[in-house]
Amino acid sequence: MIIRNRPPLSYSDVTPRNEYLNRRRFLAGSAAVLVSGAAALRAAKLNVASKSPFSTSEPLTPFKDVSTYNNFYEFGTAKDQPSQLAKNFKTSPWHIKVEGQVNKPGVFDMDAILKIAPLEERIYRHRCVEAWSIVVPWIGFSLSELLKQVEPKSTAKYVAFESYYDPKQMPAGAWAGISFPYVEGLRLDEAMNPLALLCTGMYGETLPNQNGAPVRLVIPWKYGFKSIKSIAKIKLVEKQPPTTWNLSSSREYGFYSNVNPQVDHPRWSQAKERRLGEFLKRQTILFNGYGQQVAGMYNGMDLRKNY
Ligand code: MTE
Repeated sequence: MIIRNRPPLSYSDVTPRNEYLNRRRFLAGSAAVLVSGAAALRAAKLNVASKSPFSTSEPLTPFKDVSTYNNFYEFGTAKDQPSQLAKNFKTSPWHIKVEGQVNKPGVFDMDAILKIAPLEERIYRHRCVEAWSIVVPWIGFSLSELLKQVEPKSTAKYVAFESYYDPKQMPAGAWAGISFPYVEGLRLDEAMNPLALLCTGMYGETLPNQNGAPVRLVIPWKYGFKSIKSIAKIKLVEKQPPTTWNLSSSREYGFYSNVNPQVDHPRWSQAKERRLGEFLKRQTILFNGYGQQVAGMYNGMDLRKNY
């Protein structure tokens, strides 16, 4: 593919690939070639400045598993649906609006986002509330770098996130059983914790659409549903914001949703997890093993009540 052979990107490099594909569609004039053109659509390489010391040395889950076993309900509820149904999701141009209790609200396009801080590779464990887990070499930088740029006011206590939603591009969402746009939230200190990653890539390349292109969160000490995909809006607010899974079932999904093997989901145990590709289950670790970096934020809090 032309993009893969070019030097590492400026984000707008992704656009010529779409133009290229559109041109191919136009020239080909046949459905068969159109499909092969779309199948050839592949991510662009990302220029990673450093490998983060936060990384685990555990073996990586293969790219194929991470990119075909997905939760992205806007594109269907079966694990293999997003990789199929998000193929033509339009992620360029892209903007994130940052607003609310900040001195410098603004709209960031992808080029601006990629200039906020040098990109790091961070190999994190990712634990889904459904009790499966993966190890992924994400690419991005601390969310705090973006938040510092907009200068939170002292009244900002929480950060609310909203995914992009377009029923025309995401028709399968109508049957997902949750409401869209998908929304998530963090306390401001959680959002400022260096582990909270604003993520633009994985495995050395831009994010595949099904993994939340072009920009998502990765919050490794919390259940995977806190890691909101395809972010369109960030708002700093005074009060705890609503979150999609909590709105859907507050008894089952709390606002905090820190990985905790001692607090079971009402319908299943959270004591163990299945790492994709492994046969035997392994023990789940409190805060997904990131306690050293994050436990202090919850001192004095009852983690059973604040699940
Ligand atoms: N973000 C949006 N917008 N929609 C979703 O359905 N699913 C969440 C989270 N972010 C979801 C989302 C869940 S449940 C998980 S486990 C992770 O994305 C899955 O990320 P992955 O597919 O890259 O492994």
